[in-house]
Amino acid sequence: MNGKRILLGVSGGIAAYKVIELVRMLRQAGSRIDVVMTAAAEQFVTPLTFETLTRQPVRRDVFQQWTEAEAGHVTLAEKADIMVIAPATANTLAKLAHGLADDMLTVSALACPSPVLVAPAMDHHMYLNSATQANLETLRSRGIHVVGPDQGELASGIIGQGRLVAPDHLFGSIRSILGQSGPLAGKHVVVSAGATREPLDPIRFISNRSSGRMGYAIAQALVDAGARTSLISAATHLDPPVGATVEQVESAADMHKAVTEAATDADALIMSAAVGDYAAREVSAEKVKKDDDDLTIELTRTVDILATTERPGLIKIGFAAETANLTEYAKAKLVSKGVQLLIANDARQAMGSDDNQAFFFRPGHEPEELPLMSKHDLARRIVDELVRLVEIRSTGEGN
Ligand code: CTP
Repeated sequence: MNGKRILLGVSGGIAAYKVIELVRMLRQAGSRIDVVMTAAAEQFVTPLTFETLTRQPVRRDVFQQWTEAEAGHVTLAEKADIMVIAPATANTLAKLAHGLADDMLTVSALACPSPVLVAPAMDHHMYLNSATQANLETLRSRGIHVVGPDQGELASGIIGQGRLVAPDHLFGSIRSILGQSGPLAGKHVVVSAGATREPLDPIRFISNRSSGRMGYAIAQALVDAGARTSLISAATHLDPPVGATVEQVESAADMHKAVTEAATDADALIMSAAVGDYAAREVSAEKVKKDDDDLTIELTRTVDILATTERPGLIKIGFAAETANLTEYAKAKLVSKGVQLLIANDARQAMGSDDNQAFFFRPGHEPEELPLMSKHDLARRIVDELVRLVEIRSTGEGN
C-alpha cells in the first residue's frame, strides 16, 4: 500500500463518516489519498475533515481552476492506482451504471483506467429495489469490484442489508485488488496455519501452542503478491486476509483432507501449521470419567501432510520448529519432507510471539541465517523466495 495513489469518492450517505477511519488506515499504510466528494456528501462530512487527514485538497467542482500540475478534471483519475467509491449511494450507483458524469465523482469514475471499487451503503429497501440490483449487476459485469453492503442496523433503525462494510474490510479489499497484478498473479497457493486439535472425547483434545500468526501473515503476503490463496486454518481466532479463501479445520486428519483437496490444482503448498503428530487411537463418544487409577491414552501416528502431498510441479515449503539441534533436524526435514525451502526456527522464541528469528534451508546450499524480524516481514521474505522458485520452475519447464 506504501506509495499507492488512492482516489476516494465519497457520496452522500450517513456512512460517509465511516470512511474517515479508512482514510486514517490508508495514510498509516503510506498511501496517498485524494478525495472527491459529491455535494450531498458534504451534508454529512465536511471537506475540511478529509483535507486535514489526507493533506490534499478535496475536489468537488469539475469546473474549478486547475493548476498546470493538476492539468485538468480527469488527472486525479488517471494518476490513481485504484478508485474507491465509499459510501456509494443508490443514486451514485445508478449514475455509474449509466455512464453519467455530472460531478467530480462520476467524471473521475468514468475517466479512471485503474480498478474501481464501489462499497454500497443505503436503506434496505433502496438496496433491494430491482433498479439498484440491476445497476450493481451492470457494474459487476463491467469489472467494477462491488464490496458489501453488510447486514445490520441501518440509519432508519431497521435491521437489514445496506450497511457500509467495516473500514478494515474495505482496507483489506483495496489491498487485495492492488495485489492482483503482483508476481504471483494466476498462481494458486495453499497455506496452512495454526495448531491442530486431536480430540480425546467431546470436550478434550491434545494440541500445541502455535498461534497461527505466521501462517496468516504468509496468507496476507500471498494475497499482496496476487496469488489465489487458500488458507487452511486450525484453531485460531485471527482475522483472515480479505481475498483469501479460508477453510477452518480441527484435527490433523481434517487438515490432511482439506490440504489434499485444495492442492489438486495448486502451484505451491506452504505448511506453516503445527500439525499434531499423534492422535488418540480411539476417541470416546462420551466424556471420559476419572477414577482412582492413572490413565493411559494410546496414540497413533497422523499422516505427514507435507511429506505425502504430491503433484507434478508442486513447490513445497515447510517449517521446522525445534528446541535443540536445529541445523541437524532441519537438514533431515529438508530431505524427508521433499521441500524446496525449509524455514527453521527456535519454537520457544517463535511460538506466540509477533517476531521470528529464522534460518532458510535450501537443497544443496548452506543455511541462511535471517535477522530477528516481524512475522509479517518474514512472510514477505518467504513469498519472495516462492516467486523465485516459481520463476525457476517456469524456466525449467521452458527448457
Ligand atoms: N507437518 C505436516 N504434517 C504432520 C506434521 C508436520 O505436514 N503430520 C509439517 C509442518 O507443517 C511443518 C513440517 O511438517 O511444515 C515440520 O513440522 P515439525 O512439527 O517441525 O516436524 P515434524 O515433522 O512434526 O517432526 P518432529 O515433531 O519430530 O520434529
